[in-house]
Amino acid sequence: MKILVVGSGGREHVLVWKIAKSSRVDKIYCAPGNGGISTLAECVPIGAMEFGKLADFAKEKEIDLTVVGMDDPLVGGIVDVFNARGLRIFGPDKAAAILEGSKAFSKDLMKKYGIPTAAYETFDDADAAAEYLRHSAFPVVLKADGLALGKGVLICNSLDEALQGVRDIMTDRKFGDAGRRLVVEEFMTGREVSVLSFCDGRTCLPMTSAQDHKRALDGDKGLNTGGMGTFSPSPFYTKEIDAWCRENIFKPTVAAMNSEGRPFKGVIFFGLMLTEKGPRVLEYNCRFGDPEAQVVLPRMENDIVDIFEACIDGRLDEIELRFSDNACVCVCVASGGYPTSYKKGFVINGIENFDGKEGYYLFHAGTRLDSEGRYLTNGGRVLNVTATGSDLKEARKNAYEAVEWVSFEGAFFRHDIGKAIDETEA
Ligand code: AMP
Ligand code: GLY
Repeated sequence: MKILVVGSGGREHVLVWKIAKSSRVDKIYCAPGNGGISTLAECVPIGAMEFGKLADFAKEKEIDLTVVGMDDPLVGGIVDVFNARGLRIFGPDKAAAILEGSKAFSKDLMKKYGIPTAAYETFDDADAAAEYLRHSAFPVVLKADGLALGKGVLICNSLDEALQGVRDIMTDRKFGDAGRRLVVEEFMTGREVSVLSFCDGRTCLPMTSAQDHKRALDGDKGLNTGGMGTFSPSPFYTKEIDAWCRENIFKPTVAAMNSEGRPFKGVIFFGLMLTEKGPRVLEYNCRFGDPEAQVVLPRMENDIVDIFEACIDGRLDEIELRFSDNACVCVCVASGGYPTSYKKGFVINGIENFDGKEGYYLFHAGTRLDSEGRYLTNGGRVLNVTATGSDLKEARKNAYEAVEWVSFEGAFFRHDIGKAIDETEA
């Protein structure tokens, strides 16, 4: 088979790496890809939002299957463009990707079908939002309705902060058109867990759990980022909680999307909070998490291409997912200044230290190869240093050992990825 992967981050690198393990695959292309991906796939300089060009490329190269990693093209309707041209593609169509594309949609869906989530109100008008907030309890959570690179969520501790948040999101449009509508949500506390789940429109097949660390700095300080590191599995996500979530969250979500005439084929990412009152949905995403995929896929024992095809063909009930009994930790190494402004183009040293080291993986997030064959930094999150271990503590020790093997000017990473697991017996 010939496979095309769309995207350019660490998630796409681990996807390409996992696809390359399939005995059914002869050739992988990635558009646009990155420096690390180019060692496993032929990178083609077509942007992820250039749907027509991507479809032309897939036709010309007789691609058997296209896999989309990123949210923007899915929400923008890449799957509809490919389907209209008779091209096989893994991911939700535009009608289903709205599950991530609009928080107002997903909150209304949860309310209508009784799926547990935080209480909320939606506003199209800044004055009405401000008036509502004057009568709210704090903290309160403000969410821009649309896609905002994981940054359109503000937790406000006072009325002043909340009013400023409304101005930022709705009036000044700091997150662009994503801020045309605003969701104001009840603040919840608890452990967060991410569960990625394959869906074929009817059947929902959850993968092993993971936990992300969204803030930039140690101790959950600093700004929200796309994610600074992950571990899998989450020891807080017990078998009992999993069984409860399957019945009360995962299956009802897939059924709700069906009832709405928006059957979901692809990966639903359930962002959950384990509150005192039970698990609640924080958010849905319509794709693999980044960097959740980097710790989930190295533990998956199935041929992932079989699963992609089963999702497209509605045969997911025939698949049994298998995950190894180990643990995995990913530490993101970022450019100085991320998630605000940072420089690119620094030489990355030590990449070769990962060669031949079993259980250690260096997934590239923002890198590129220059004409002399050197790897240069090319984004905010640059490298995903990933390691497995027999349990989470060992995986964490291994990941932090390996993070010292690479360096570049201005590099920083969090030192406490998976630290919470020290509090448990896991
Ligand atoms: P989201 O993009 O909706 O997952 O929000 C980003 C982050 O904001 C989440 O990972 C949580 O840490 C936090 N967050 C979102 N919604 C809530 C909420 N209702 N209560 C508390 N924290 C939240
Ligand atoms: N790691 C969070 C996300 O992929 O949205």
